[in-house]
Amino acid sequence: MTSGKPRVVLGVGAGIAAYKVCELLRRLTESGHDVRVVPTADALRFVGEPTWAALSGHPVSPQVWDGVAEVPHVRLGQTADLVFVAPATADLLARAAHGLADDLLTNTLLTARCPVVFAPAMHTEMWEHPATRDNVATLRSRGAIVVEPAAGRLTGADTGPGRLPTRPSCSRWPAASSRAAPPRTGPTPADDLAGRHVVVSAGGTREALDPVRFLGNRSSGLQGYALARTAVALGAGLTVVAANVALPDPAGARVVPVGSAEEMREAVLKAAGDADAVVMAAAVADFRPAAYRGSKIKKTPDGEPEPIELVKNPDILAELGERRRPDQVIVGFAAETDDVLANGRAKLARKRSDLLVVNQVGENLAFGTPDNAAVVLGADGSRTDVPRGAKEALADTVWDLVAARLKPRG
Ligand code: CTP
Repeated sequence: MTSGKPRVVLGVGAGIAAYKVCELLRRLTESGHDVRVVPTADALRFVGEPTWAALSGHPVSPQVWDGVAEVPHVRLGQTADLVFVAPATADLLARAAHGLADDLLTNTLLTARCPVVFAPAMHTEMWEHPATRDNVATLRSRGAIVVEPAAGRLTGADTGPGRLPTRPSCSRWPAASSRAAPPRTGPTPADDLAGRHVVVSAGGTREALDPVRFLGNRSSGLQGYALARTAVALGAGLTVVAANVALPDPAGARVVPVGSAEEMREAVLKAAGDADAVVMAAAVADFRPAAYRGSKIKKTPDGEPEPIELVKNPDILAELGERRRPDQVIVGFAAETDDVLANGRAKLARKRSDLLVVNQVGENLAFGTPDNAAVVLGADGSRTDVPRGAKEALADTVWDLVAARLKPRG
């Protein structure tokens, strides 16, 4: 492979949308990426090997038995800065989710440790089938980015979700490897985060009572990690401050594990020093026990519970709002059950944030579920409704709104 250039493996599945990927390949090579195309055998029925080889400037094979001396089945994945799979068919998503390795592309997916992005394209019934939903959830839970397909006319007469994603996700694909890209000479597109440092807090803090007990909350970290994966896909340098998250580290991120609100405060403020944007998606405990007991709290002789005295925790988001540089974008999250918008507007002003993502908690939304619905309020009076959907879709909207508020670089 050519040295110095960001290395992209472009996996191509057996879908008619393969013809659209030729254009993407051109854009990637023209913007300075070294692209190895790895189609499945059936993908070559849609677009042939000479097309991929000519556009990428590299030999192309779907199987592991060519160029064995270079051990391509492990080398391609190990050395890639980004693996991008388009179109990701239902079959390919299933094989990836189950860890099968029966061709060069699935071998590459198992050896890659860089960000992996799937851009699905298939008929609506296949996309909505529980088997595909489960496979997508599995891949996402392991850190892959599975972009939501676009809705519209599909092959044949039918319409619905299942088209290869276009804007906004499509324009961002090349940005996903920009960590390794040479400095840009032209202007940065307004909607990507290439060259920016962003900080995301995720999970829920735990406030220790004694060596075995804590006060905690039900935050899983799923939304914070969806924000993290999407930020990496947009080319950001990313620090994740993770409180008690039992999910694999997002590829391409620096993860700082913390336990309590005070630990989170220290890590977030430190990382925020040179950050362009900070997104506080973590559920931070407002209170902590006034005293930590070094040994386990025992039942009182009469069996009555001892009262627990609480003290206030620092409000990290409010502190970020106070200390912010004028060019920094600060985003908060709020979970509300009543008067959602009024409470959200008041919180946005109180914490001096630029954006507040307001979740309505309940109806199986928000905590521990792969879906979310929200209203994003802006300090400029704007309001963006995000309908119920994958946490990645909400993350996409949040980064769009952040990118629009970042000052252009000189
Ligand atoms: N937050 C924070 N530090 C805290 C508490 C919350 O940084 N000690 C952040 C959260 O990460 C989130 C936002 O503030 O981004 C909203 O948190 P929330 O607890 O809903 O706000 P409160 O001001 O505590 O309001 P409420 O009265 O609803 O609890």
